[in-house]
Amino acid sequence: MPLNLKGVWEAMEECQRLGLTRAIGVSNFSIKKLENLLSFATIRPAVNQVEMNLAWQQKNLRDFCKANDIIITAFSPLRKGASRGPNEAMDNDVVKDIADDLMKLWTMMVKDIADAHGKSSAQVCLRWLYEQEELMPLNLKGIWGAMEECQRLGLAKAIGVSNFSIKKLENLLSFATIPPAVNQVEMNLAWQQKNLRDFCKANDIIITAFSPLRKGASRGPNEAMDNDVVKDIADAHGKSSAQVCLRWLYEQGVTFVPKSYNKERMNQNLQIFDWSLTEEDYEKISQIKQQRLISGPTKPQLKHLYDEEN
Ligand SMILES: NC(=O)c1ccc[n+]([C@@H]2O[C@H](COP(=O)([O-])OP(=O)(O)OC[C@H]3O[C@@H](n4cnc5c(N)ncnc54)[C@H](OP(=O)(O)O)[C@@H]3O)[C@@H](O)[C@H]2O)c1
Repeated sequence: MPLNLKGVWEAMEECQRLGLTRAIGVSNFSIKKLENLLSFATIRPAVNQVEMNLAWQQKNLRDFCKANDIIITAFSPLRKGASRGPNEAMDNDVVKDIADDLMKLWTMMVKDIADAHGKSSAQVCLRWLYEQEELMPLNLKGIWGAMEECQRLGLAKAIGVSNFSIKKLENLLSFATIPPAVNQVEMNLAWQQKNLRDFCKANDIIITAFSPLRKGASRGPNEAMDNDVVKDIADAHGKSSAQVCLRWLYEQGVTFVPKSYNKERMNQNLQIFDWSLTEEDYEKISQIKQQRLISGPTKPQLKHLYDEEN
């Protein structure tokens, strides 16, 4: 009974076409087997589940899958399969000695790294896998298609994104049949994002500003509310720095989500509608030093997340 891969795969493709499964994939496929499959598949495998861990890194297979948009799922990421019992090949004394030495060396190396980071060996193994970005490329088209379906089915009133750069929005708009209603991004006086604002306005995408007061938990000095320029403007209007921050966002036509657990400050944050910033204020505001609140490290890295736009 040689494997009739073509027949099996066609049946799997039919399952996906009939909506019986969202995606189809393979397991333990080498590059050669994947090449064969890709030569006749009309729906490509979404995933290939293979052993991958620090002692079996599979660089060639990773490169091939990345180039062909196939997600790798690593099994045995900690290299510790369930009770596989004695192995007649590896338990051979000579082989075992070599293997033991290699295993000790490997374990020592991982342990050194773990110790240096104050982590466990298991965490080092998993972190390494996590850092191989190609293991999980974001399938934006697939995700967005599913989100559009949610809206069509009435499960969501509107769909949107968060932390999308102009480049990412352009990509999304190139295939979306329902454009995103909203893009939630950091926006405040110390990270004003003029280009993104202009792009979203031109494309009817509402911006929701997060960290509008620039005051996330324990992130050091507050470059918006503690900024002297902002304090001066606030004093001149008899308002608080927070109110100046929020009024500016309001005047940009964006929505924003200031967070407060304090009733008085919640009230204060609502008192921004019966006054306005002057041209002189805007002149000063344009001089505030711009820098992103979160400087990293993040995953994906900041340069990939935001495409180095401002
Ligand atoms: N999509 C994303 O990636 C993302 C990332 C970050 C945040 N967010 C969302 O954005 C929202 C807010 O962001 P955030 O918490 O980072 O920043 P924020 O709203 O700019 O700042 C909140 C902080 O400001 C204080 N505050 C509120 N009103 C004030 C006032 N009038 N005067 C002085 N201090 C005041 C609050 O303290 P008190 O409570 O003591 O008033 C709280 O510590 C949250 O809903 C969060 O989930 C989204």
